[in-house]
Amino acid sequence: MMIKYYAGIDIGSISTEVVIVDADGKIAGYAIELSGAESAKALERALVRALEQAGLKREDLLAKVATGYGRERAEAEYKVTEITCHARGVAQLYREARTVIDIGGQDSKAIRLDLNGKVANFQMNDKCAAGTGRFLEVMARALEVEVGEMGALEKKSRKQLRVSSVCTVFTESEIVGLLARGEQREDIIKAVHDSVAERVYGLVSRIGIEPEIALTGGVAKNGGVVRALAEKFGRELLVPEEPQIMGAYGAALIAAERSG
Ligand SMILES: Nc1ncnc2c1ncn2[C@@H]1O[C@H](COP(=O)(O)OP(=O)(O)OP(=O)(O)O)[C@@H](O)[C@H]1O
Ligand SMILES: [Mg+2]
Repeated sequence: MMIKYYAGIDIGSISTEVVIVDADGKIAGYAIELSGAESAKALERALVRALEQAGLKREDLLAKVATGYGRERAEAEYKVTEITCHARGVAQLYREARTVIDIGGQDSKAIRLDLNGKVANFQMNDKCAAGTGRFLEVMARALEVEVGEMGALEKKSRKQLRVSSVCTVFTESEIVGLLARGEQREDIIKAVHDSVAERVYGLVSRIGIEPEIALTGGVAKNGGVVRALAEKFGRELLVPEEPQIMGAYGAALIAAERSG
């Protein structure tokens, strides 16, 4: 019997993902690329790599669902919002999840799931970089570290500092000031993670905090942000093994459902 395969595509402001699933929702292959200035090229690279990993050809994909802010430019049977896709992906992995927090490059979102894992409500933090991946990237540049090493660096912190969570430009100049005063980088990094958690906590409060809480998006790879959120919420969060592909994974599951 021929096995059926479906693809989910997430074209985000920073990264583009392709996830391929079979009819049971099992992941056959996936790839993550930087979106860059030409997201069509990033998508093509991600698709080629995901197909290669799955050992499939383009013709083997029965349907595609595209999500993310660049979804209109993708060739796909259906276009679905990121809210629906992140919710779908999390509901598949964690039946107990009632809240989804997606922290991406340009916005963060808080989604309330009902008992069936469907979207009941959501809030978005857009038009402002504070509490997003971009905020962390700006602070990493000011501190001359890579975003990918911030989580490990904060573990060396011995001193509690505070930075504001209200405005990216303001926080950046605060950091310059702290460095000039001779404060340690690891202490500043920890304060940056705490400020992201504070901002995200405010966002989630607007839909009501209901456990279990799952975290998706590239920022979930930053162990420092995960630590800070767990402290702020007073409980551990559910973090998927590869949180950055959850939008594309949800999209792939929706593709399978719609064209079953
Ligand atoms: N290995 C890593 N370690 C720590 N942080 C990371 C890592 N990889 C990515 N990030 C963070 O994830 C962010 C990008 O997240 P993601 O890929 O989910 O964004 P996106 O989906 O493109 O954006 P959006 O959904 O807002 O359009 C980066 O800005 C960075 O802060
Ligand atoms: Mg995204």
